[in-house]
Amino acid sequence: MAQLTITKLKPGIGAEISGIDLSQPIDAETREALSRALAEHLALVFHGQDLTPDQYLAAASAFGPVMRQHYSQHHMEGYSNIGMVYHRNGQRPAERWHTDHTNHEKPPLATILYGVEIPSAGGETSVANMRAAYDALSADERRRLDAMRTVNTLDEQRLDTREEDREKYGRPVIHPMIRTHPVHGTKAVFFHIQKVALIEGMTPEDSKAYMADLIERMIRPEITYTHQWTRGDVLVIDDRATMHRAHGDYDRRESRVLWRILVEGDRPRLN
Ligand SMILES: [Fe+2]
Repeated sequence: MAQLTITKLKPGIGAEISGIDLSQPIDAETREALSRALAEHLALVFHGQDLTPDQYLAAASAFGPVMRQHYSQHHMEGYSNIGMVYHRNGQRPAERWHTDHTNHEKPPLATILYGVEIPSAGGETSVANMRAAYDALSADERRRLDAMRTVNTLDEQRLDTREEDREKYGRPVIHPMIRTHPVHGTKAVFFHIQKVALIEGMTPEDSKAYMADLIERMIRPEITYTHQWTRGDVLVIDDRATMHRAHGDYDRRESRVLWRILVEGDRPRLN
C-alpha cells in the first residue's frame, strides 16, 4: 500500500494527499483509503502529478468506474471520458455554484480535475461543503427542503449542445433536493440551478429564485475551499455533498486547461 499522508486544508473541507504517484497502478487497499478520504474531506488535492490521458483514467478509476461526459463537443480527441475545460471555442467558465451532470439518473460520485495549463493569476476552483450548508439551515427550512424534488435536464442556456447529446441526455430526471451520502449517511443539499427546470409544485421562476436565494444564504467562506492551481495538481471533488465553481478572473490571453473526468455515482436518495 502507498504511504499516504493526509493533511487537512480547512476544518470542514479539503485535504492534501501526498506520498502517491498517480501515474502508477494503485492497489486495492490504497483505493479504499482514497475513497474513504474523499467521503470524509470532500475535496482531495494531489500535487506534482505527471499523467498521460490513459494514466489519468487509470488513476481516476481508483474512485469507481469513469463515466462518459454529455457535452461531446468538449471531449478530448479520442477520449470520450475526458472533458476539456478550457474556455475556448465558446466555452465559458462555470462561475455559478453547481454540481455536475445532475440530469443523469446516476450523477457522478466525483469530479476530477487535472491542471495542465494554469494562468499566472486567478482561475481558481472553489468547492463548498453542502452537508455543512444543510446543517446550518433552520429546522423548518431543512424539513421543507427534505420534501422537495427537482426536475433536471440539460442546461437550456447552452447554444452549442449537439443534437445527439440533447436526445441522449435531455430527458427530465427527478432527484431529491436533499441527498443522503451513501458512505456516512449525512445529508447534503444537491442541485445544479441551471439544470433544474423546476422544483415539483413550484413554477420555474419561483424555483430558480428560491435556489439562487439558497445558494446566497448557504455558501459562506468557512464552508468553502478555494484551490489555487499549480500545473500538475489533481483535484478530486465529492459530488454527493458539495457544489463547486470556477473563477473566471484570469487574463484570457493566458491559457487555463484542465482535464476533467467524472466517476460514476449511484442514484441520489434521501432516507
Ligand atoms: Fe462543474
